[in-house]
Amino acid sequence: MAESMKGLKRTCRCAELTNENIGQTVTVMGWVQKQRNKGGIVFVDLRDRSGIIQLIYEEADCGSANMEKAAAMRSEFVVAATGTVTARSGAVNKNIPTGDIEIRVTDTRILSESETPPFAIEENSKTREELRLKYRSLDLRRPDLQRRLILRSQITRYIREFMTAEGFLEIETPVLCKSTPEGARDYLVPSRVRPGTFYALPQSPQLFKQLLMASGYDRYFQIAKCFRDEDLRADRQPEFTQLDMEFSFVDEEDVMETNERLIQYVCKKAIGLDVQLPLPRIKWIDAMNNYGSDKPDTRFGMTLKDVTDIAAGCEFPPFREAADTKGCSVRAIVAPGEAGMARKKIDKYTEMVKGYGAKGLPYIAVKEDGIKCSFAKFMKEEEIAAMVERTGAQKGDMIFFASDKTPLVWNVLGALRLKLGDDLGLIDHDQFNFLWVVEFPLLEWSEDENRFVAMHHPFTMPMEEDWPRIDEDPGSVRAKAYDIVLNGVELGGGSVRIHQNDIQEKMFQVIGLTREEAEEKFGFLLTAFKYGVPPHAGLAYGLDRMVMLLTKADSIRDVIAFPKNKDAADLMSGAPDVVDPRQLEELYLNVETPEGK
Ligand code: AMO
Repeated sequence: MAESMKGLKRTCRCAELTNENIGQTVTVMGWVQKQRNKGGIVFVDLRDRSGIIQLIYEEADCGSANMEKAAAMRSEFVVAATGTVTARSGAVNKNIPTGDIEIRVTDTRILSESETPPFAIEENSKTREELRLKYRSLDLRRPDLQRRLILRSQITRYIREFMTAEGFLEIETPVLCKSTPEGARDYLVPSRVRPGTFYALPQSPQLFKQLLMASGYDRYFQIAKCFRDEDLRADRQPEFTQLDMEFSFVDEEDVMETNERLIQYVCKKAIGLDVQLPLPRIKWIDAMNNYGSDKPDTRFGMTLKDVTDIAAGCEFPPFREAADTKGCSVRAIVAPGEAGMARKKIDKYTEMVKGYGAKGLPYIAVKEDGIKCSFAKFMKEEEIAAMVERTGAQKGDMIFFASDKTPLVWNVLGALRLKLGDDLGLIDHDQFNFLWVVEFPLLEWSEDENRFVAMHHPFTMPMEEDWPRIDEDPGSVRAKAYDIVLNGVELGGGSVRIHQNDIQEKMFQVIGLTREEAEEKFGFLLTAFKYGVPPHAGLAYGLDRMVMLLTKADSIRDVIAFPKNKDAADLMSGAPDVVDPRQLEELYLNVETPEGK
């Protein structure tokens, strides 16, 4: 039977007690982790968000009524205990901070009983994630999740400390708004008042923060909820949080400099990490050429090598064709010490790269007793030798190749590099490699739409020196855009924005947006910009990703209290769900579900 806590006051959390409290009378409240009844003496491990303390019940201290309650306690009962802190009478437990003390209980109450939980509340649970998400309130009791969420709270506090001290104002922007230009699919909310119309949930506060600059708020930040309906991965959620910011009267150097100090401040405060400044910078083109990725993981080498010129003379059809075609190339990476890789393993990697669009995975194994080349019959000996030399492969190494359109080759080898780096144990997981990627292309070619699209968003400022080439060679124009990357994950991104009408108009024209379409989509921004807009620039971080990386969590879901699964569903509450037909009527909505869905 649950008792009330009337007249009782918690004096501290369980694991806030130390040797220094020995002799004091305290009251703790928490969940029963474990109860052991030794007959005449009952031990209870009591848990709260600070950790665990051992309670010891003996009749001489607490009397028979309390002994009965102690005997009835089961896992996850919520219990209050008052008693004296003493040195442990039994063996010291070195595994917990309170392992040398215990509370000799004089009075106890069972505040709430618990059914047997569907899984044990323990560190690093082996329980299936699906079950954990369904019973998220139980899962959230686990110490590792609690530590991460506590650190998340501290990180947001340090961010606010830093941003406020730097003169940024925290301003909220709407959640029910018009579609924003980040380019993912929107989540829509139907309007009841204006039937047939919809709000979009913001993919980011991008346009609003630019408007705030036009309104003179010169330094803005926000911890903002963003919504994107896109395919989910370990570092993506449909609903996520950004640390968003915008500055007036600055250039990209100011934004990067301030953000480097922010990173240094937060890392030091949150996890005691010393981040050396300035952070390395790598041009986008070098990141692609060396790592096959615009978010390079520089914790290990294994860089890509271009062998297109050597391939140009060979008879191996895919290489030859790539070497002869504009925009295509042949590139390689070396897996150190893997010349003897088993056929099965090679097949596994081949399957993997096919998933990225490669047609196969040609290789040269530089074995101790000679070279084994999977396409040897098309190659002259000196061509093979030149490839081995170009890649720097040593005896015992394996060289893998990809040939096709260059972006595809980057993508294939970039993914293979990460997989090999992981499989071969080349990644030092104690390292935190921050870096900036700069000089992104302004535009990228969309095969689907057969036109150029903005690589970041259409308000990104081009580099002055490239702008004159916008008509003759739009693809070569670089942007004043920058991404901040940590250990191969895009932590944040931003840019200097266009604040001049003529450049903005041209930009819309290049991406095939007519004046009317631009007006219809972003008219409110364009109107505001007619009345005096300061030069401005900004950046946004994925806050969930930042916490995930700083806490070394495997998934973004482990740093979000109530995340969605990979189908964007909340397994706990059952969202998304059907709604009452009356709600649909009010909104004038007719729902037709396709068969099989
Ligand atoms: P961008 O689209 O690059 O830029 O987003 C900024 C950062 O947000 C994080 N992020 C995500 N995190 C979790 N789940 C997602 N689905 C998700 N999508 C993005 C990433 C990313 O780097 N308005 C611009 C910023 C600017 O220009 O100021 C923007 O939103 O860490």
